[in-house]
Amino acid sequence: MTRSVRLSLEQLQPYLLDVPPPRLPPGQVPSEPPQPLRWSEVFGSDQPVEIEVGFGKGAFLTQVCQSRPTAHFLGIEIERKYVLMAAGRIAKLAPKNVRLACTDAKWFFSNRVASSSVDVVHVFFPDPWWKNRHKKRKLMSPDFVADIGRVLKPGGIFHFKTDVKDYFEQTQIVLGPEPTLREEPDSAYGLDGAMTNFERKYRIEGRPIYRAIYSKRDAS
Ligand SMILES: C[S@@+](CC[C@H](N)C(=O)[O-])C[C@H]1O[C@@H](n2cnc3c(N)ncnc32)[C@H](O)[C@@H]1O
Repeated sequence: MTRSVRLSLEQLQPYLLDVPPPRLPPGQVPSEPPQPLRWSEVFGSDQPVEIEVGFGKGAFLTQVCQSRPTAHFLGIEIERKYVLMAAGRIAKLAPKNVRLACTDAKWFFSNRVASSSVDVVHVFFPDPWWKNRHKKRKLMSPDFVADIGRVLKPGGIFHFKTDVKDYFEQTQIVLGPEPTLREEPDSAYGLDGAMTNFERKYRIEGRPIYRAIYSKRDAS
């Protein structure tokens, strides 16, 4: 049996984006308002930027950072244990084009992502939050969709997948009136078969997978 080697936090550090927590402890006031990040400073050079929201164990990022070395990938995940797990897998590949942020994507988008600065936003298999009392926790709210539209460059892509038909339909309803985005045919965007952990599992189980592609309209 082979044992996987655990890397130290120091070895993971190059892949972790240092983001202050979305909520400061009670009574603590931020010294200055958070500023949008400059991608060339985050990654060290200018290349197209793709963001994956809620990357879980990081299978998608692990694949695309190798298959598409000329793009820069930022993963955002709220659960620290997944961030560390994915960072461990990514660090062993030593790519130069991935960073991971442990934070709430909604807060991160509205506070740290500049308008018209991102080429692709991926949201794959977000938690469905079935119970009515948990509805507010759903990721795909009108505010978040508006922020996705704001941060994409003109012509940039929003890429959404879920196995939950209801969530897919609700998301289409939220996306429909968003003036910055336009629905595109499925053929408008492909990804060489890169899959998240959930997608791999669901495909093996034969579950249906619903996918939507939207593009950012030109400002004119
Ligand atoms: C159902 S899992 C899917 C994981 C992964 N996308 C996949 O397909 O394997 C949803 C993930 O989104 C993360 N998440 C939920 N809300 C989030 C938020 N507001 N910001 C960032 N990540 C979030 C969860 O911690 C979880 O890892």
